[in-house]
Amino acid sequence: MDSEIAEALIREFTRVQAAPFVPEVQLYLADKLVPLWQATEWQAAGPQAPPFWAFAWPGSQALARYLIEAPETVAQRRVLDFGAGCGLAAIAAVMADASRVAAVDVDPLAVVAQRMNARLNGVAFEHRCQDLVGDDISEEVVLVGDVCYERETTERVVPWLRDLARGGALVLIADPGRTYAPVDGLELLATYDVPTLRELESVDQKRTRLWRLDAVKAT
Ligand SMILES: C[S@@+](CC[C@H](N)C(=O)[O-])C[C@H]1O[C@@H](n2cnc3c(N)ncnc32)[C@H](O)[C@@H]1O
Repeated sequence: MDSEIAEALIREFTRVQAAPFVPEVQLYLADKLVPLWQATEWQAAGPQAPPFWAFAWPGSQALARYLIEAPETVAQRRVLDFGAGCGLAAIAAVMADASRVAAVDVDPLAVVAQRMNARLNGVAFEHRCQDLVGDDISEEVVLVGDVCYERETTERVVPWLRDLARGGALVLIADPGRTYAPVDGLELLATYDVPTLRELESVDQKRTRLWRLDAVKAT
């Protein structure tokens, strides 16, 4: 989809609002999933992934809260926001003085939303539309918010993240109890009750845990 059309669509189906758990950051956020999803499919004239990028999921809200409160986690370090969606965690990493921040997502519309959200907050970071899983990367910190919602994705992503941890990267996973999230080889860093949209989660908040992923599974 042409990026001007994508921007117009984002403006029409979202409104600028503070991330509920991270009021320091403004984002283009949708209040409803279905009308926007239908609009993306109509524009693209075919099936599209759900517009995950139009919501601040508990994962990125927890990561952003943590980085704003503990900026030393990323300060002067190279950071990758993997499965970045709206880019909230990447924005927080820039605010926390990371030396370089890249956001990666497989959805091209996420990249458009991230650019708009970066502009809103007066920050800049790199945007990549690509599936990096399996690649060797040079970032020192990898932020992973709410990507363990599908078995197939999680089974590919988590072993790769452990390889990155083995190579020395600090891998931070924030998860609100999704079915496929890893349960071992984790060090708990923070627990938050993150406000959520009832439209998406059927509840008003989700207990969300932020973990450091170890290089190896516990035995
Ligand atoms: C539930 S959303 C979470 C977005 C964001 N991290 C947050 O917490 O708000 C999951 C995101 O992961 C992205 N994603 C899924 N598989 C991916 C992959 N292999 N590489 C990059 N992004 C991926 C999706 O497109 C989607 O934007």
